[in-house]
Amino acid sequence: MSQGRIFITRRIPEAGMEILREAEVETTVFQKDEEKGLTRGEVLKGVASCDVLLPLLTEPIDREVLSANPRLRGVAQMAVGFNNIDVDVATELGVPISNTPGVLTDTTADLTWAMLLAVARRIPEAHNYMVAGRYKIWGPNLFLGADPSPGGSGRRKVLGIVGYGRIGQAVARRAMGFEMDVLAFDPYARQMIEDDELATWADLPELLAESDFVSLHPLLTDETHHLISEDELQAMKRTAYLINAARGPVIDEKALVKALNERWIAGAALDVYENEPAMAEGLAEAPNTVLLPHIASASADTRGRMASMAATNAVAHMRREPAPNCVNPEVYDTDAYRERMARP
Ligand code: GLV
Repeated sequence: MSQGRIFITRRIPEAGMEILREAEVETTVFQKDEEKGLTRGEVLKGVASCDVLLPLLTEPIDREVLSANPRLRGVAQMAVGFNNIDVDVATELGVPISNTPGVLTDTTADLTWAMLLAVARRIPEAHNYMVAGRYKIWGPNLFLGADPSPGGSGRRKVLGIVGYGRIGQAVARRAMGFEMDVLAFDPYARQMIEDDELATWADLPELLAESDFVSLHPLLTDETHHLISEDELQAMKRTAYLINAARGPVIDEKALVKALNERWIAGAALDVYENEPAMAEGLAEAPNTVLLPHIASASADTRGRMASMAATNAVAHMRREPAPNCVNPEVYDTDAYRERMARP
């Protein structure tokens, strides 16, 4: 017998579907076309007809959505980030929210490094040059880039990490192989940074002024919205690179376009955008960029694990049990939650 109904907004990897089948959960996958999102109306209708919602970061889950079904038992997002979900409202309404932390840390840190190396060594430009048939003769000035390692100058480079959570730390670990000095800024992890052998604490102005590469890994909150804006870009070295595999709105993208065009910084590598999937006007044409379509956790293994975790969380929500990766566990102690779970 079916345990209940789960509404999956868009197609997720098979590993997750298998867990749902084994748990005998009735599933509706709304959008099977990889390139198409759901309309607001489709999300609202889906939520109203299910017991558990499994969304992706492409669907805003706000008060209207969370209020669309008084029997909703939980929201199991397939992503570690959950800035698309109004968690405070969910807690107020007694809805547990879960995510998929941990499994994508390495994959995201790897991509951060791929972006860092790609922008510093101009890999996309060089690749395009090759496939355009423009390589005629080796030259000592062809595609000169910058070294993350000591390289020819012998100078150890400085990596500044903003946001020293799981992913920021994994990025720092990789920097050891490049003999970098790592600075880290994260007001919520100051003690941890001070105790950490990999990184040295720096406040943001110092980090921006000293770093050859600045990599962003904070959560997106009101505090981190436009954390990197005109003043911060001006404060960076003219030879420095900015890397963002966190959330787009951490950077004021219009300011970044200006900074790139006016050469305040040497380049930027972005996996995320302020108004995703759109880019700020002029970003695509700006010099010295690497621009990716939000693929930081996109390895087959990791996306499979994320889907399994989201499905496991969803099954727990379905059974009215605490989800293994609940981001608002305080909800379980609320009357709103108890009343919600008591509904047939
Ligand atoms: C991807 O951006 C995620 O938050 O999982």
